[in-house]
Amino acid sequence: MSSVLLRPTADAARALAHRVIGDLGNRWLHTAAVAARAAQLAAVVPAEDREILVASAWLHDIGYGELARVTGFHPLDGARLLDHHGWPARISRLVANHSGACFVAAVHGLEAEMAAYPDEASATSDALTYADQTVGSRGEPLGIDARIADMLHRHGPGSPNAAVAHLRTPHIRAIADRVRTRLGAAL
Ligand SMILES: [Fe+2]
Repeated sequence: MSSVLLRPTADAARALAHRVIGDLGNRWLHTAAVAARAAQLAAVVPAEDREILVASAWLHDIGYGELARVTGFHPLDGARLLDHHGWPARISRLVANHSGACFVAAVHGLEAEMAAYPDEASATSDALTYADQTVGSRGEPLGIDARIADMLHRHGPGSPNAAVAHLRTPHIRAIADRVRTRLGAAL
């Protein structure tokens, strides 16, 4: 697999994602729906970031794929796979930090590894997280609160996600508030 890109494209991102997680059933349905959701959020990111947003959405969960799996922490494993294949650093950073990954990384003891991927904390990173957090695990549309509750149910009360829910949940809600404000302003 070789994909050195000067400029990310959604088509190339979709192709790589399909190669890595296309056989993962619900994970693939979720990914495709997050990419579609990201495309709907074009109005809340700078025009030059729209392709980056959709490409990042296709790639955000590739760390779940067998080809990517090293640490078992999917945002980091996905970012490293992208680095390995020469994708732009910005895409790797967006993938590494989607949906409050930094909080969960701390529970895994992966802060040092994550330091290679600083969070840009931008309208574009907000939109990626918002897209991920408004699509359920089988690709269905879901509200933020239902999505968080479903995630905690699936991962279980003893999971790293549950251990940092008191930090990650308000972080995701704040992102959702910012995106909704931007969507309102874009109307
Ligand atoms: Fe996701």
